[in-house]
Amino acid sequence: MGGLPVMSPMNLEQIYSRLWDCLAAAVREDKHPFKVMQAATIGLDGSPNVRTILLRSASETDNLLTFHTDLRSPKVAELSREPRIALVGVDTVRNLQVRVSGETRILRDGQVRADAWWSSPDHGLLAYRTRLPPGTPISHAEDALDKTHDAPGPDEGFKHFCVVELRPARLDWLDLSATDRSCRALYVRQNDAWVSSWIAP
Ligand SMILES: Cc1cc2nc3c(=O)[nH]c(=O)nc-3n(C[C@H](O)[C@H](O)[C@H](O)COP(=O)(O)O)c2cc1C
Repeated sequence: MGGLPVMSPMNLEQIYSRLWDCLAAAVREDKHPFKVMQAATIGLDGSPNVRTILLRSASETDNLLTFHTDLRSPKVAELSREPRIALVGVDTVRNLQVRVSGETRILRDGQVRADAWWSSPDHGLLAYRTRLPPGTPISHAEDALDKTHDAPGPDEGFKHFCVVELRPARLDWLDLSATDRSCRALYVRQNDAWVSSWIAP
């Protein structure tokens, strides 16, 4: 008898562990498919808004994910008004999708934010040091670079930097890797515990 060994399907608990393992790996590995996620918010005019973010921390124990952004960016205004967010990540090689949604909190000061700044490459990024807030209309692409001021020092970006914390309330795992048995698992947070179930893919 030849052929590939038949893998027994994972149960809901195993999928839950794998989901968080994937998120943790994405934090560590720049090339991990879930490192780059899409984050959807509700725009100030009520329309949906989505953009790319990098996953910066993931803790199953604390039920917490974080990403970094510029305090001046429109998403911060949106989350300040409506703190709910939805993230989606995709692994196009393994045919996996993870969706996470929940409430956010914006850390504008404090030690967690300072530690995040100094331990990430962000403090070297020009993006946080620009004079123009993200989204400001400009006539030419080069106008984004600040020519009217002396180049601000690296620490200058810190005042624009914030950490967005997300406490997941819903996790949705879709595995389309096996053509004959795709599976989708849902985890809903209720009273500080996860209630898991299968749902149709
Ligand atoms: C690969 C990639 C990674 C990005 N990571 C982030 C990020 O971690 N945080 C962030 O604020 N913007 C990030 N951006 C830029 C955003 O997608 C977006 O253009 C910017 O934050 C403005 O979004 P807003 O106008 O919705 O606030 C990234 C863009 C790309 C292409």
